[in-house]
Amino acid sequence: MNAQILQATARALVAPNKGILAADESFPTIAKRFQSIGIDSTEANRRDYRNMLFTTPNANEFISGVILFDETLRQSNAEGTPLVDILNAAGIIPGIKVDSGAKSMAGTKGEKITEGLDGLRDRLVEYASLGARFAKWRAVITIGNRIPSVGCIEANAEALARYAALCQEANIVPIVEPEVLMDGDHDIDRCEAVTTQALDAVFSALKRHNVLLEGILLKPNMVISGKDCPQRAGINEVAERTVRCLKRTVPAAVPGIVFLSGGQTAEEATAHLSAMNKGPLPWELSFSYGRALQDPALRAWAGKSDHVSRAQDVFYHRSQCNGAARTGKYTAEMEQRIA
Ligand code: 13P
Repeated sequence: MNAQILQATARALVAPNKGILAADESFPTIAKRFQSIGIDSTEANRRDYRNMLFTTPNANEFISGVILFDETLRQSNAEGTPLVDILNAAGIIPGIKVDSGAKSMAGTKGEKITEGLDGLRDRLVEYASLGARFAKWRAVITIGNRIPSVGCIEANAEALARYAALCQEANIVPIVEPEVLMDGDHDIDRCEAVTTQALDAVFSALKRHNVLLEGILLKPNMVISGKDCPQRAGINEVAERTVRCLKRTVPAAVPGIVFLSGGQTAEEATAHLSAMNKGPLPWELSFSYGRALQDPALRAWAGKSDHVSRAQDVFYHRSQCNGAARTGKYTAEMEQRIA
């Protein structure tokens, strides 16, 4: 493990005004996204869509790194240029999703455990040789009737820590992602309690496994009301609760926290991040959004080659709004610029 490499990569991923694009949708997930715009998930469509995002002019002003799916890390665009080379040429750091998905956890009432540790050491060596400098592993925690269970929280924390230790051995920065889902009608109090419990378990496990905190990034959910909660908390309350929860659970040694968007609209995710960045914080607070960065561009693209430039404008604009949110400077008026 080379601590200097890990710290330099982690810091570069949360450089001023920048954040991460999560474009690591698995085959079933990208198929679902493409279905929403009425196109098939073929190898060529996946390649062209991701090429559109990665070749967006000046995206590197606001995008520090991109999380890729295994297929994309090995893929070339229609002109034969490897997609990884396109990112590197733009100064954008390639990353890789390394978990093999959240599977139903035996002995629980519908909870999930993320798999993918077997053979991970060898896969990480290969991913590093293909150009990946950071990785992602997503654990899923569901809020419901008498869940999450301690068993689910602990098993997922343990897997995240083992993954993180293996990544650091290969000089790959682990993004540690314990996602408390927004699904359900629970209130924000419940989300805060469960998120606190999950993060406490994750940081205990990281310590147990001797993970270098300066060489990781944390990717949490925001503390937010459930999607179907009748009284959903507003932007400032989400920002205050999230910062309070993170200050209680995340050591200042961690260089950056990069949120997932988790089903928030693009505008909500940006507004929440901006509100949190209005005060001083012990870590960089940034984004690693999938849907909240991609959805508007996906709809503008709609699978049509003559829509590429328009879709890139939309993607650039979304990235710019989130870049502004890094310093609390996003305003609703910024949304008009692309209309
Ligand atoms: P969303 O921002 O769409 O939640 O995706 C981020 C991600 O990488 C989830 O693992």
